[in-house]
Amino acid sequence: MDIKAIISKYDPPEENLIPILHDIQEATELKYLKDEDLVAVADYMNIPLSEIHGTVTFYSMFSRTPRGRHIIRVCESAPCHLMGATTIIQALEAILGIKVGETTKDKNFTLELTACLGICAVAPAMMIDSEMHGNLTLEKVKEIIDGYRKEVS
Ligand code: FES
Repeated sequence: MDIKAIISKYDPPEENLIPILHDIQEATELKYLKDEDLVAVADYMNIPLSEIHGTVTFYSMFSRTPRGRHIIRVCESAPCHLMGATTIIQALEAILGIKVGETTKDKNFTLELTACLGICAVAPAMMIDSEMHGNLTLEKVKEIIDGYRKEVS
């Protein structure tokens, strides 16, 4: 991965640390930030490594451990919770054979929870990578996951 090329897309880079880290994470196969990536960003941008570590730790969208090709984030905020998010989470755990926070053995999916995705009108909701899915039902969740499975097989 050419970290310098990613950083040079942003002007001025110092005001765009979060999108830069996001792009680097997305460019890795297993969607996480390695130690050497953070060191390279600190060097190229002339920012203390501690500041980069602080940013990565603060935002839940960043991961320091390998994840799946697709990141599933189920909203657990109150409106989604009231509309059955717990059942959706349990269904996803059963379909994928993993618990929240885990990655499937084939490295295709990671299941995570998130705060409000901003689409409460269609609660319960989840986001897979950058795609939003609302009005979730057990059938709909199964269909969505089947669609992604076909895509990766
Ligand atoms: S509470 Fe779930 S999208 Fe807003």
